[in-house]
Amino acid sequence: MDRWNNKFAIVTGASSGIGLELVKALVKNNVNVFGLARRMEKMEKLKINLKNERGEFYPIKCDLSNEGDILTAFRWIEENFKTIDILVNNAGITTSEFLIDSTAENLKNILDVNLIAPIICTREAVRIMRANNIDGHIIYINSMSGHRVPFWNNTTFNIYSPSKFALKQMSELTEMKLKEAKNCTKVTTIFPGLVKTEMPPDDLFGQTSFIDPEDICNAIIYALKTPPHVQIKELTITPLAGYERK
Ligand SMILES: NC(=O)c1ccc[n+]([C@@H]2O[C@H](COP(=O)([O-])OP(=O)(O)OC[C@H]3O[C@@H](n4cnc5c(N)ncnc54)[C@H](OP(=O)(O)O)[C@@H]3O)[C@@H](O)[C@H]2O)c1
Repeated sequence: MDRWNNKFAIVTGASSGIGLELVKALVKNNVNVFGLARRMEKMEKLKINLKNERGEFYPIKCDLSNEGDILTAFRWIEENFKTIDILVNNAGITTSEFLIDSTAENLKNILDVNLIAPIICTREAVRIMRANNIDGHIIYINSMSGHRVPFWNNTTFNIYSPSKFALKQMSELTEMKLKEAKNCTKVTTIFPGLVKTEMPPDDLFGQTSFIDPEDICNAIIYALKTPPHVQIKELTITPLAGYERK
């Protein structure tokens, strides 16, 4: 991780689950992290827990379904720290509400957080990286639902899967646009299987195998550690079917 010593990362969805664990892993590796999420109290607690680590953690209150909030956050970072080196588009939401019962408002909210926010964050991050001649790393946290529509407990999780399918294409597009711009920022997409976080319905964990947020963070750190000429384009990380955890 020497390449990222004292560099700057943005992690969306830093208040719980994968994002929270990733903040810990990055800060312990001497990366300074800006965490974007709505629950400041959770991020402030995390900041206290990380006070003796090598990197700094800067929690920023941001509703990712609101473009104004995102732009304010990026502007503050740019004005105070000039640049960023890593963006992790991690925040995401799902619902088991049946599609036929969903209002347009609910549907738009899923797309806003899972798709539009990563697009806006990527746009802003690439703009800042290019302005500062940074070859950075952009990471998209996708899902197995970005490969196929899930069916668990009689639910298909509404438009979660379509939002992740589109996000997969967004990572492809990001890569192409960076190449066109002759910028050597890497793009990595992670496709996790079931992870024990606040997101999936609790009863799922009793029925099927799962992995931990740390397992996903280890994969992200691995992708970040690769030498400049290597890009981990995609990683699919699932629980080992049939393995019983003690
Ligand atoms: N858990 C799994 O089984 C699983 C499997 C595959 C993929 N994933 C993906 O992994 C990523 C992280 O999810 P997780 O499992 O760690 O879930 P989580 O524990 O529920 O965390 C979700 C994070 O997203 C943030 N978030 C949600 N809506 C937001 C909004 N409007 N504005 C700002 N932040 C918002 C939450 O922060 P606030 O509520 O504080 O705003 C929270 O920090 C997601 O993209 C998810 O799709 C998860």
